[in-house]
Amino acid sequence: MGLRKKIKKFLYQRKFHKNNFQLNINNKNILVTGGNSGIGLALTKNLLALNNKVISTYRENGENLIAINDLNLSVVKLDQSDINNFNDFEKKIEETAIDIIFNCAGVFGGNFEEQEVKNIDFKKFQKVLMVNSISILNIIKIILNKKKNKSKLELIINISSDAGSINQNKDGDAYIYRTSKSALNSITKNLSIDLNKKFGTTVFAIDPGNTKSGMNPGGYIETDNCAKLIIDLITTNSELNGKFVNLLGKEILW
Ligand SMILES: NC(=O)c1ccc[n+]([C@@H]2O[C@H](COP(=O)([O-])OP(=O)(O)OC[C@H]3O[C@@H](n4cnc5c(N)ncnc54)[C@H](OP(=O)(O)O)[C@@H]3O)[C@@H](O)[C@H]2O)c1
Repeated sequence: MGLRKKIKKFLYQRKFHKNNFQLNINNKNILVTGGNSGIGLALTKNLLALNNKVISTYRENGENLIAINDLNLSVVKLDQSDINNFNDFEKKIEETAIDIIFNCAGVFGGNFEEQEVKNIDFKKFQKVLMVNSISILNIIKIILNKKKNKSKLELIINISSDAGSINQNKDGDAYIYRTSKSALNSITKNLSIDLNKKFGTTVFAIDPGNTKSGMNPGGYIETDNCAKLIIDLITTNSELNGKFVNLLGKEILW
């Protein structure tokens, strides 16, 4: 790694590094999607450490979640790429009143070359839209329609990306990912008006920055630090409804 990159990494890590948190999310029933890896896995572990009951979903392989081996954790398979995949999830959720949802599951949709307009595979595009945006609305629909154990649904956090900001787009390309996250942002804004009016639910979108994960192996922020920053933000900022923010709570233009 060159000196310039090292300095950039150091400054980035320092900006997003925090040690002392005032954590008071506890004794909640929390749903985390995309929980077997990356930010979703780190959130699952941190939320369990705060004495919450967590339902975490995984796409195909739940081994990292199973390895946590905590009685307060239940896991369920949910591949969000197909609307017909939600039956097991629906049954699992029926028993629990959900207070908080972290929508972490997401996919980039192919490399940059595959996402150039001349190369777009529209079947793939539809799948990514399903995973990154449309399925999130279905999860909320299922929770709102539960017959038993009605949920309080205090808070919904959608893990978006600054790539979904139409306003900040200076680079072009990445059509599939950008569009899917812009759609997620639109859904977030709409929910923040609608559900807030009906149930008092706080709904916001967050860009998790440059976090090291399967999706972004060269990232600068450790997933554990990213999860702690997200939890810290929720516990210290009561003005998040309808906003699109970064890990420090600074607003990003939609
Ligand atoms: N890391 C960053 O720098 C960064 C920046 C901006 C936004 N984000 C967003 O942060 C969120 C978490 O990503 P991450 O960085 O933690 O990467 P990650 O480790 O790849 O996490 C993505 C998660 O989504 C799951 N997933 C993928 N396809 C799915 C499907 N069809 N159904 C259900 N789950 C599916 C993955 O499961 P499998 O592992 O089984 O595929 C994985 O657990 C994503 O929404 C991403 O867009 C990340």
